[in-house]
Amino acid sequence: VKPLETGTEISEQSVSTPAISKDVTILFGSQTGNAQSLAKETKRKLEGNGFNVTLSSMNDFKPNQLKKVENLFILVSTHGEGEPPDNALSFHEFLLGKRAPKLDGVHFSVLSLGDSSYEFFCHTGKEFDQRLEELGGTRVFPRVDCDLDFDEPASEWMEGIIKGLTELQSDSTHSEAASKLAAGPSSSAEESPYSRTNPFQAEVLENINLNGRGSNKETRHLEISLEGSGLTYQPGDSLGIYPTNDPTLVDLLLNELNAESNEIVTINKQGDVLPLKEALTNYFEITILTKPLVEKLSKLTANEDLHKLLSTNEKDRLKEYIKGRDLLDFIKDFGPWSGSIQDFVNQLRKIPGRLYSISSSLEANPEEVHITIGAVRYQSAGRERNGVCSILCSERIEPGDTLPVYIQHNENFKLPENPDTPIIMVGPGTGVAPFRSFLQEREEQGHTGKSWLFFGDQHFVTDFLYQTEWQGWLKDGTLSNMDVAFSRDTNEKVYVQHRMKKHSAELYEWIKEGAVLYVCGDEKNMAHDVHQTLIDIVEKEASLSRDEAEAFILDLQQQRKYQRDVY
Ligand code: 2AM
Repeated sequence: VKPLETGTEISEQSVSTPAISKDVTILFGSQTGNAQSLAKETKRKLEGNGFNVTLSSMNDFKPNQLKKVENLFILVSTHGEGEPPDNALSFHEFLLGKRAPKLDGVHFSVLSLGDSSYEFFCHTGKEFDQRLEELGGTRVFPRVDCDLDFDEPASEWMEGIIKGLTELQSDSTHSEAASKLAAGPSSSAEESPYSRTNPFQAEVLENINLNGRGSNKETRHLEISLEGSGLTYQPGDSLGIYPTNDPTLVDLLLNELNAESNEIVTINKQGDVLPLKEALTNYFEITILTKPLVEKLSKLTANEDLHKLLSTNEKDRLKEYIKGRDLLDFIKDFGPWSGSIQDFVNQLRKIPGRLYSISSSLEANPEEVHITIGAVRYQSAGRERNGVCSILCSERIEPGDTLPVYIQHNENFKLPENPDTPIIMVGPGTGVAPFRSFLQEREEQGHTGKSWLFFGDQHFVTDFLYQTEWQGWLKDGTLSNMDVAFSRDTNEKVYVQHRMKKHSAELYEWIKEGAVLYVCGDEKNMAHDVHQTLIDIVEKEASLSRDEAEAFILDLQQQRKYQRDVY
């Protein structure tokens, strides 16, 4: 285990230089790739303004370099219950720990990404921001916390830090830099003209249910054409889809709001307009209730129950209310509503794209992309609820229809560069998707590195996703080992981690040989339990203490030998 770098000395950097350095370091911590692509955009904009930029993932940044940094910008997302992304874990631990150096004279700013439907919204960004101040840094621009619709606030932050830096410089450079700002490039320099902000209308070629009759589940396999888009991807990347809302739900909402479907509303700061029904169907998120949304909408009603619910001593009741309810419930429960329809839509956030791990290899399927989507249906607060995108794909999309899509590159989930490197893949349920892509790719390339798949689902007969494909690959050697756990075929539940534990010694052998370990699927339960199991395995097989085993696993993550795509 590599010890973390020490750095207790106090920085000797001068704080009295009038013109600040043009050297800027950008560090990002990114799980799905958003923080990373925004970091790249920040780099381009800073370079367009004459700065020299070093861009690095937190994982690749040597903490002892921190003392040399003069201008530091951090872009980081938050996951689950306020956790940093995997590629930020070590740096986060270092910076928040005792070994972090003093950062007097360092200019900094933080852009944090998150999802306001989670309690610990933007927590990791907040931690970095506070810690950089504690260590003596000076903010050139206040931290910006972004929700899922992050484009606008992220651009404002980029402009803010450039303005902040240029203001710190001498007057002559100031005016020059400011004039360049407006002309700075804004979109990514990718080959395809299509991106998250300009999705491609892709034709659906195939849409089938992978589960057998009698299953508790419905898992859709979609094959989508990328023909003419110029879009490319690697195994491990994700496909983003912009869904439309359920028309029945939109009608119920229009009815509850007593609104005219064709009333024209302004949908964004640029002043674009749409008829209300279209705006609620295609543009705004109308399903997820978040605390910030509830707070904003509370200004449009005098309802006492709501104001009581929002009082500080009702935090738990508010959390309970928000969980499993949507905008329609909220509008029903807390009227009468004042204000115009425009006031109402002004509070809504833009519907974010949904990301699905790609389950095909582009090499094996030219100009196509496949995804594997679990249909989300549940009962809550007296009503049947549907996942927005999964139910769109399951119930309202047929071959021949189109979907607005984009590719989300994910550098944190990639096949090893050396195709002979062994890989261990853990992917129960729809988590198996990227491993189909991995094996298609390896088969296509004719490579023979060892591979081991752990798959699990409820029932062998109905839920063995892509069963014949795995069996084919086992036969021809593309896949070396496969262990399955069908949790509801036996009296006692068996999960993938039980299978892993059973092969503890052999798994540890593979890890020692340099295997890369991948985990994909449910974050909260599965990925957490698998993580604990990995620590158990290392603790036992390498005869380490618990702390040492944890450090071993963290080090695997740092070295990209343990990669996760969890949701
Ligand atoms: P269950 O639904 O029977 O509990 C894919 O969804 C598979 O993951 C199912 O077999 C599911 O089992 C299982 N699963 C549920 N919770 C899990 C956990 N904490 N760890 C691993 N697998 C889990």
